[in-house]
Amino acid sequence: MNAVFHQAEALHEKIKNEIIHDAESFRIQYLGSKGEIKSMFSAMKDIEPKERKAFGQLMNAIKVTAESRLKEAQGEQQFSGKGGQKRDYTTPGIAHKFGTRHPIEQTKDRMIDIFAKLGFSIAEGPEIEDDWHNFTALNLPQDHPARDMQDTFYVDSKANILLRTHTSAAQIRVMENEKPPIRVITPGRVFRNETISARAHCAFHQVEGLYIAEKVSFADLKQTLYYFAKEMFGSDNIRLRPSYFPFTEPSAELDVSCFICDVKGCPVCKGSGWVEIGGCGMVDPEVLKSVNIEHPKYTGFAFGMGIERIAMLVHGIDDLRLFFENDQRFLQQF
Ligand code: DAH
Repeated sequence: MNAVFHQAEALHEKIKNEIIHDAESFRIQYLGSKGEIKSMFSAMKDIEPKERKAFGQLMNAIKVTAESRLKEAQGEQQFSGKGGQKRDYTTPGIAHKFGTRHPIEQTKDRMIDIFAKLGFSIAEGPEIEDDWHNFTALNLPQDHPARDMQDTFYVDSKANILLRTHTSAAQIRVMENEKPPIRVITPGRVFRNETISARAHCAFHQVEGLYIAEKVSFADLKQTLYYFAKEMFGSDNIRLRPSYFPFTEPSAELDVSCFICDVKGCPVCKGSGWVEIGGCGMVDPEVLKSVNIEHPKYTGFAFGMGIERIAMLVHGIDDLRLFFENDQRFLQQF
């Protein structure tokens, strides 16, 4: 047999066993217009005429092998790197966006930190409450007109099971289970059947504070609130307006100067330059009686603040509904 046959067979073996690093180089080397297969074909003229058919078949088989190995190599490269290109391991990875903590959670945590510095620990109560903890023990017996101050969602109105309207309910649970001195805050979600607007929502958050010990006075309450305002807003420009709550006597409403408009007047402060952030007062002796805490040996103060209002003031947000819409464009700013 002609030596050219041997060469062709050797080429076939080589193509079968070649370790292909780059499909394109393989194609040029074997299947290109100046490649090894083409030049081997041109040796046809040196072949005896009677062997030409066999040689042609061999060459065709070599070509088929080369083409199938090329296809296989191209497929592998596409899989391991873009468009048959070699993978560039120095390319920066795809950056995944991390979520952010909700501004209400962030504000809540800041409030917890501030009160923790004053020695307040955290307690939490249930969102589904009974009448006793949400109303009766807080000196709001059945038919008390002040119940109308808070439009209540009932889960089971016959059994008097409701969604708590304020975190004051958790105060009662703490006092039922602990002995004075008590110094706790109870952050949480509360619910009221209110029309949703820029200033009000049917579900919102409060932080309740409670301090019961011997000789606790209104001055202690005021000092606590001044400290909180200074830490939270960087300013203790607050005022206490005499008010009424059944569970405190005396009672006050807590206002801070409006940082949203810098006291120029805006929809949140209704042009007054002051924003109400909560209520407070000295715990009413009737409340202490309902949880069996000795009075006047022990006295105490309590306060309840709205977290949304505080977050609005801190971040200059003028519409409370933004906190509940979960619009990424809003949330990503925090
Ligand atoms: N629970 C009241 C409310 O949601 C706020 C409040 C007022 C809480 C006075 C208190 C307090 O602890 O002493 O409107």
